[in-house]
Amino acid sequence: MKIVNDPVKAQKIIKELKLKRKSIGLVPTMGALHEGHLSLIRSSCKENDFTVVSIFVNPVQFGPKEDLNKYPRPIKNDLVLCKKAGVDLVFHPMAENIYPQGYKTWVTVDGLSKELCGKSRPVHFRGVTTVVAKLFNIIQPDAAYFGQKDAQQAVIIEKMTQDLNFLVKIQVMPTVRERDGLALSSRNIYLNKQERQDALVLQQVLDLAKSVIKSGERNTQKVIFLMRRFIEHKNSAKIDYIEIVDCNNLLPVKIISGKCLVALAVWIGKTRLIDNVIVTSNR
Ligand code: PAF
Repeated sequence: MKIVNDPVKAQKIIKELKLKRKSIGLVPTMGALHEGHLSLIRSSCKENDFTVVSIFVNPVQFGPKEDLNKYPRPIKNDLVLCKKAGVDLVFHPMAENIYPQGYKTWVTVDGLSKELCGKSRPVHFRGVTTVVAKLFNIIQPDAAYFGQKDAQQAVIIEKMTQDLNFLVKIQVMPTVRERDGLALSSRNIYLNKQERQDALVLQQVLDLAKSVIKSGERNTQKVIFLMRRFIEHKNSAKIDYIEIVDCNNLLPVKIISGKCLVALAVWIGKTRLIDNVIVTSNR
């Protein structure tokens, strides 16, 4: 397994692979790899000749008061996991490799980036799309793998890929959960024992939404009201948002019909967690 931090070196390796007509899969990550990332890596290894995992805690997708400094960086363990999983190349740049002095170019997907998480994280998606566009240019993957847990990120990256004519197939893979239902996230390690227990409320309230919708409720305000009431019983939980939106434009819907995304962000103590589920109704 090769480990490269210089984009120019990575590009040289990629150029040779392209000459040999090898297909390339990219799994962009910020490290602190867990089973969710590993499921993306496994899909990439299965579907491509060569798999690149990027590990880069992208500073520009964190707001000024967010957790950039404390974000976990267990690089040694990440490299062991990548090697075991059969990764061919780990691209692990430093911030100055990606944003050298005088860096000036940003990629923004209008509209979609302002919805859901964009309301409380106004610079987040601009940072994500900028770094992912750069990774697409450096690695030139045939396919790139993202998790459904970050549903909004996946929709925005699909839109960027389409709008900027990237020849990359975006593969969105199912959320991987702990046995008790908590969606895997690198931020789960911030939770203490009590908070870890309280964090189950995200999955529980999504199950509640699914079941009331299944029993026929179509009014989103009513579903959201029930979800709010359920979460407000947990002391350490503070709702950032609960929304039911159209899967494509991420705009709130009044009546559930067709495919909708039920998405939420909840603070558990000092940790902000997100989760979502897609619901389908035919009437
Ligand atoms: O999902 C993530 O870990 C990040 O947002 C990504 C896509 C690697 C960009 O930094």
